[in-house]
Amino acid sequence: MKSYTYFANWKMNFSTQDSINFAKFNHEDLLKLAKNLNNEIVICPSFLSIYSLLKIFDSSEVKIGAQNCSRFMEGNFTGEVSAKYLKEIGCSHCIIGHSERRKYNNETDTEILEKFINLTKLNISPILCIGETLEEYKNNNTLNILKSQLNLLIECLISGLEVPKRLSIYIAYEPVWAIGTGIVANNEHLNKVFTYIKNSLQKVALDVNWKLIYGGSINGENIKSLKKLNLIEGFLIGGSSLHFQELKKIVDLD
Ligand code: PGA
Repeated sequence: MKSYTYFANWKMNFSTQDSINFAKFNHEDLLKLAKNLNNEIVICPSFLSIYSLLKIFDSSEVKIGAQNCSRFMEGNFTGEVSAKYLKEIGCSHCIIGHSERRKYNNETDTEILEKFINLTKLNISPILCIGETLEEYKNNNTLNILKSQLNLLIECLISGLEVPKRLSIYIAYEPVWAIGTGIVANNEHLNKVFTYIKNSLQKVALDVNWKLIYGGSINGENIKSLKKLNLIEGFLIGGSSLHFQELKKIVDLD
């Protein structure tokens, strides 16, 4: 049976107290889920909750990630959180380029690449999110959009950007039209997209530990069909990760 990495992206839905309550209440069950089949479970709470959750899951199979980091390592950048600080407290993963940040914070591919470089330098696994809007999807433009979102990274790899060989580098395909909408991309589309991403990245960096994951309206029902896709090695789960029983269904189903 295949093992997967499951990312719980809590976004701004749980306060620190909510996060601690969830973690403590489901502690044993989460550990069991993670041990089962060597799954990896990575919870990504708000910045304020990361430290508390790291203490609760102290060096266990349940890992804690961030939802974002600064494009700068340090300096006069009010309100920013450096990848260095994430590293210092033991954060192992960090989501970058989520479509909500691209939309509400006008994040550009250049800034996202800077975050990618900072994180990989520190051996933190990035989860780089890419995906097209509904309009782009309807216009059959998906692969062009993905190409443009990956372009800078690919150029840097060609010019010799070093990525630690053992570090897992996650590329999360999250069609914007599938996030929080209840609509999931069909397997034919996903197969085409993941094949494209895999080929584009392997062509320039065969020795990087790429992991392709899917995100967008995953639940306990549609996961069955998603797990049929050979190229998928993990899932980025938003809404469903806020409900332990739903998350359990997603992880448990083989
Ligand atoms: P969703 O969110 O599962 O609620 O669609 C996924 C995400 O935005 O990462």
